[in-house]
Amino acid sequence: MNAQFDFTGKNVFIFGGTSGINLGIAQSFAINGATVAVASRIQAKVDAAVAVLKELGSNAHGYSLDVRQVEDVKAAVTAFHDTVGPIDILVSGAAGNFPAPALGMSANAFRSVIDIDLMGTFHVCQSAYDVLRKPGASIINISAPQAYVPMIMQSHVCAAKAGVDMITRTLALEWGGAGVRVNSVVPGPIDNTEGMDRLAPTQEARAATIQSVPLGRMGEASEIAHAAMFLSSDAAAYISGVVLPVDGGWSLGGAPSAMAAKLAGG
Ligand code: HXC
Ligand code: NAP
Repeated sequence: MNAQFDFTGKNVFIFGGTSGINLGIAQSFAINGATVAVASRIQAKVDAAVAVLKELGSNAHGYSLDVRQVEDVKAAVTAFHDTVGPIDILVSGAAGNFPAPALGMSANAFRSVIDIDLMGTFHVCQSAYDVLRKPGASIINISAPQAYVPMIMQSHVCAAKAGVDMITRTLALEWGGAGVRVNSVVPGPIDNTEGMDRLAPTQEARAATIQSVPLGRMGEASEIAHAAMFLSSDAAAYISGVVLPVDGGWSLGGAPSAMAAKLAGG
């Protein structure tokens, strides 16, 4: 299902938009009329994503960069502004993850995830501020349930994404006066993504994940895109500073779905 919005004439810049959930978000904005830019480290992924977005009719742009390098992030948003114009919708979704126990992780391993997810989000939001369309711009930071549900082998991601959500809330306070809204979207387990391949690499782990979701299934990237589009639309003009789970109820931490289905008479 592809929800319909009208983003004709809007400029969207998606950091980490070259694969998985973020590419799904980029595609949805493209389908709904936006000019879309994506940025990530690997040039081949950037080129492939731009080609996909152009096929969907978007005047797409791509930048190869690492969000850990603030000067490169600044250069990309400036180049986009100079060729296309102000950014209406900014999505910060670049992230790294690998399962590792706290005791089995080097300081550099922990720091890598903090630098990509947390520092990267700060770099992206701060660098883009000057070229956001004001008033009216929307920032979406892509978080994870690890921000508020502690998870074994995820101390780095838990710390980083909790920080991402506090950046969301702080910037909503600091930038609201300029008419910039800032929200987090929190995907639950999303099918066919690098994130789930890393966290649930076996059929058993996949089944256990599905069992733990009240709605009894993994989500689709398009379902995260719907939330990002809603929060960036005029329908959400009075929504800022929210952290919105889109996770089939997973983060409620309730009963496994099979047991719940019995309770519900299913
Ligand atoms: C322990 C590890 C490790 C592992 C890497 N490291 N993988 N330590 N277990 N499995 C260590 C390395 O040994 C090194 O430490 C340090 O981390 C940095 O590794 P590099 O490979 O040099 O880093 P880099 O090339 O910058 O790559 C970053 C990365 C990589 C995060 C390590 O995995 C990556 O690029 N990931 C991007 C794609 C991704 O992760 N997508 C999923 C996002 S999903 P030393 O000490 O040896 O130098 C997500 C949330 C999902 O974010 C939530 C689902 C519910
Ligand atoms: P993914 O396909 O690996 O997406 C990560 C993106 O970020 C890629 O485009 C990657 O491209 C880019 N990236 C990684 N490190 C970067 C860096 N240092 N600088 C610039 N770009 C970088 O993974 P995904 O599973 O779809 O996850 C997407 C987002 O959703 C992440 O924020 C993740 O935390 C969040 N999330 C995912 C799930 C899930 O179920 N998958 C659940 C909750 C939250 P390059 O490799 O080219 O850099």
